[in-house]
Amino acid sequence: MHFLTAWRLVPLILSVIACGAVPYDEYILAPASRNVTPPSIYQVNGSVVNSADLTNVNGGNTTFQGPASVTFDFGRSVAGLVSLDIGSSSTRDAFIGATFTESSLWISSLASDGTADSGLDSPLWFPVGRGPGIYTAEKKHTRGAFRYLTIVTNTTASVSVRSVRVIFTAAPSQDLRAYTGYFNSDDELINRIWYAGAYTNQLCTIDPSTGNSLPFLGIISADDNITLPETTPWYSNYTISNGTSTLTDGAKRDRLIWPGDMSIALESVSVSTSDLYSVRTALEALLSQQKPNGRLPYASKPFRDITSFTYHLHSLIGISYYYQHSGDRAWLARHWSRYQKGLQWALSSIDDTGMANITASADWLRFGMGSHNIEANAILYFVLQEAQGLSQALHNQTNSTWATIANGIKSATNKHLWNATAGLYKDNETTTLHPQDGNAWAIKANLTLSANQSSTISSALRARWGKYGAPAPEAKDTISPFIGGFELQAHFIANQPDRAFELLRTQWGFMLDDPRMTNSTFIEGYSTDGAIHYAPYSDVPGSSVPRLSLAHGWSTGPTAALSFYVAGLHLTGRAGATWRFAPQPGNLSRVDAGYKTALGLFASKFARENDAYRSLNFTTPQGTFGEVQLAGTDGTLVSEAGEKIPLVDGAATNVRGGSWTLQLGD
Ligand SMILES: *[C@@H]1O[C@H](CO)[C@@H](O)[C@H](O)[C@H]1NC(C)=O
Ligand SMILES: *[C@@H]1O[C@H](CO)[C@@H](O)[C@H](O)[C@H]1NC(C)=O
Ligand SMILES: *[C@@H]1O[C@H](CO)[C@@H](O)[C@H](O)[C@H]1NC(C)=O
Ligand SMILES: *[C@@H]1O[C@H](CO)[C@@H](O)[C@H](O)[C@H]1NC(C)=O
Ligand SMILES: *[C@@H]1O[C@H](CO)[C@@H](O)[C@H](O)[C@H]1NC(C)=O
Ligand SMILES: *[C@@H]1O[C@H](CO)[C@@H](O)[C@H](O)[C@H]1NC(C)=O
Ligand SMILES: *[C@@H]1O[C@H](CO)[C@@H](O)[C@H](O)[C@H]1NC(C)=O
Ligand SMILES: *[C@@H]1O[C@H](CO)[C@@H](O)[C@H](O)[C@H]1NC(C)=O
Ligand SMILES: *[C@@H]1O[C@H](CO)[C@@H](O)[C@H](O)[C@H]1NC(C)=O
Ligand SMILES: *[C@@H]1O[C@H](CO)[C@@H](O)[C@H](O)[C@H]1NC(C)=O
Ligand SMILES: *[C@@H]1O[C@H](CO)[C@@H](O)[C@H](O)[C@H]1NC(C)=O
Ligand SMILES: *[C@@H]1O[C@H](CO)[C@@H](O)[C@H](O)[C@H]1NC(C)=O
Repeated sequence: MHFLTAWRLVPLILSVIACGAVPYDEYILAPASRNVTPPSIYQVNGSVVNSADLTNVNGGNTTFQGPASVTFDFGRSVAGLVSLDIGSSSTRDAFIGATFTESSLWISSLASDGTADSGLDSPLWFPVGRGPGIYTAEKKHTRGAFRYLTIVTNTTASVSVRSVRVIFTAAPSQDLRAYTGYFNSDDELINRIWYAGAYTNQLCTIDPSTGNSLPFLGIISADDNITLPETTPWYSNYTISNGTSTLTDGAKRDRLIWPGDMSIALESVSVSTSDLYSVRTALEALLSQQKPNGRLPYASKPFRDITSFTYHLHSLIGISYYYQHSGDRAWLARHWSRYQKGLQWALSSIDDTGMANITASADWLRFGMGSHNIEANAILYFVLQEAQGLSQALHNQTNSTWATIANGIKSATNKHLWNATAGLYKDNETTTLHPQDGNAWAIKANLTLSANQSSTISSALRARWGKYGAPAPEAKDTISPFIGGFELQAHFIANQPDRAFELLRTQWGFMLDDPRMTNSTFIEGYSTDGAIHYAPYSDVPGSSVPRLSLAHGWSTGPTAALSFYVAGLHLTGRAGATWRFAPQPGNLSRVDAGYKTALGLFASKFARENDAYRSLNFTTPQGTFGEVQLAGTDGTLVSEAGEKIPLVDGAATNVRGGSWTLQLGD
C-alpha cells in the first residue's frame, strides 16, 4: 500500500512542477542572469596571455601586453553595460577600450557600429591605469544590441583583467525567461524564428531614460560634402516615455518610440512575454504628442516633428491592438476622444473620389508616398473597421459615417487602382508600380472584393520573390521584413499557408542563419541581392555607416503570425472573450503552442499525417465563446466534461471556453 501511494504521487508532483515551468524554455534566447559572461572568443590581436580565462564565469587572470585586443562572440545579441574587473596595470596611463557590433562584418577595435547617421561610434574608454577594481560603463553608455564585443588596449602597458561582463539591461521590468507564450513544432527553423522574434522585442524594450539622444540627427545629409571625424561620441540618455520600461523600434538604433511597431511588434510581444506595460508607456508617449488638430507624431521626441499619414494610423492601430490584447476598457475610454480626433484628422484627407489624397511623404522610408496611395488607403480602411469595433466596445454602437466612408474607399480603390492584368493594385493612378505594402495591406484590411481577388494578389506577390525573400519595389531594391510581416499575414488570410511558410523559411530563415546576422534577432531591412544594405539609408560620404539595426521590432511579425494563424488561436473580442480557433498548419506535422491574455490561456496542440489531423486539442478560458474552423475535417469536439459538438463542414459555432479534444470520424 505504502509503495503504491508513493508511486502514484510521483507523476502528480511532476505535473505540478510542469504547471509552473515555462514550456519549451530551452528555446528562449534571453539570458538566465542579468550578469552575462562572454561565452567565446572570436579573435585575438596582439599579445594576450590567458585570453580564454575571460570566457570563464568565475573570471581568471588575462593579461594584455602592449596594444592588443580580444573580440568576444556572444553567439547571440545581448544588451547592456560593459563592466571590467581590473587586476593590475603596469603604468598609470593605461586604457582599455570597448567597441560593439551587431554584425561580424563590422568588427573593429577602433570603432563601434553607428547609432546615428553621423558615422561610426567612438569606443568607450576606461582609465584602468588608475588602479585595480571594477570599471563599469555609465548608464548613458548602455549599448542596445551587439553580438561582438572587442576589448582593446592602446598603450605598451601590461594590463591584467580578472573578468569582462555585460550587465544585461534590456526589458528592465521583465523576468527575462518567464515567457507567458510558447510555440513548438516539428520544424526547428520555424521554432527558432518564433523565439528570435520574441527576443528581438525584449531587446527593443528599454529603460525609458536610455532613449537615443540623437545628437547628430539631421545635421548631416548624404548631399553634404563634409569630412567626418573617424568616430563620433554617442549616448543614450534622453527620456522617451513615462514609467520604468518602454517598447522602442530598435535595440541599438533608434531606441525611440515609432508607431510602425504598434502594427507588428505589439502582437508579437503579447503572445510571447505579455509585456503590455511597455507597449502602453510607448503608446501614451505618442498620444502625449498629439497636435491640437488630432495629428499624431511620426516618432517620439527627440525625433523632429514630421507629418506621416500612415504612421499616424499605426498609432491608432496600436490603441485598438492594445485594447484587444489587454482588455483594458477603462484605458480605452480614457483615450477615446484622442482616438476619434486622430481618426477625424485622417478622414480630412478624403477627397471627392472617396479616397484619401496623401500629401505627406513620410512613411516607412519607402519612396513615392503621395496622391491616392493604395497602402495609405488600405490602412485607413483597416482602421475604420477597427474603430467600429472600439465604438461597439465602448458605446454598443457603430458609426454609420465611418461605414459610408469605408465603403467609399473600398469601391474607389478597386475602381481606380486595381490592375486585373497584374493581379495587383498599383501604387496610385499615375504609375504602373505595384507595391508590396499596399497589396499586402489590401488583403489584411479586407479591401479586396472577394476571396478570389485576395488569392490572385497572393499569387502575384509570390511570383515576384527572389532568393532572399519578398521585394518591396516601392523602396528600390529593398527587402523589408516590416512590410514582409504584413505580406506573411496576407498569405494566411488568402488561405495560402504554404506560401506563408515558404516566405518564413526563405526570408526569416535567411535573417536568422546568415553568418553576417546575429542568429537571434531580426534586421530592419536588407537588399534583394542579399547585401546587408538598406536602400533608404544612403551612406554618408566618407563612411560606410554600418548603422543598420540588426534587432528591429518591426521585423518580428512571424511570432504573432505563428501563434494566430498556424496554432489557430485568434482573439476576436476583448482579450479573447470571443475567439476563433482556425489552425493553418501548412506542412507541419506537429504543433504545440499557446499564449495568455488577461482572461487566461489560449492553447492548441495537434498532430497531422497526410494532410489530416491525427489528434487535436485546444484550450480557451472559461467564460469565453468562440468558433472552430477545421476545414475538411470530419469529427466531434468533446469537452473535458464529456459535452459533444459534431463538426458541420469542419466547423462549429458558439463553442464554450474550456479544453476540447477532436474525436475523429462521423
Ligand atoms: C596575472 O598574470 C600576470 C602576468 O601574466 C602576473 O604578473 C600577475 O601576478 C597575475 N595576477 C594574479 C592575481 O595571479
Ligand atoms: C589611448 O586612448 C585614450 C582614450 O581615448 C587616449 O586618451 C590615449 O591618448 C590613448 N593612448 C595612446 C597611446 O594612443
Ligand atoms: C568635396 O569637397 C572637396 C574639398 O573639400 C572637393 O575637392 C570635392 O570636389 C568636393 N566634392 C563634391 C562632389 O562636391
Ligand atoms: C546626455 O549626455 C550628454 C553627454 O554627456 C550630455 O551633454 C547631456 O546633457 C546629457 N543629457 C541629459 C538629458 O542628461
Ligand atoms: C507622463 O505623464 C504625465 C502625467 O500623466 C503626462 O502629462 C505626460 O504627457 C506623460 N508623458 C509621456 C511622454 O507619456
Ligand atoms: C505614384 O507612385 C509612384 C510609384 O511609387 C511614385 O513614383 C509617384 O511619386 C507617386 N505619385 C505621387 C504623387 O506621390
Ligand atoms: C492631392 O492634393 C494635392 C494638394 O492639395 C494636390 O496638389 C493634388 O493634385 C491632389 N492629388 C490628386 C490626385 O487629387
Ligand atoms: C446593445 O444594443 C442592442 C441594440 O442595438 C441592444 O439590443 C442591447 O441590449 C445593447 N446591449 C447593451 C449591453 O446595452
Ligand atoms: C461618427 O463619425 C463622424 C466622423 O468621424 C463624427 O463626426 C461623429 O461624431 C461620429 N458619431 C459618433 C456617434 O461617434
Ligand atoms: C497593369 O499591369 C500590367 C502587367 O504588370 C502592366 O503591363 C500594365 O502597364 C499595367 N496597367 C496599368 C494601367 O497600370
Ligand atoms: C470583407 O468584405 C466583404 C465585402 O466586400 C464582406 O462581405 C466580408 O464579410 C468581409 N470580411 C470580413 C472578414 O470582414
Ligand atoms: C544558432 O543558434 C541556435 C540556437 O538558437 C544553435 O542551435 C545554432 O547552432 C546556432 N547556429 C550557429 C551557426 O551558431
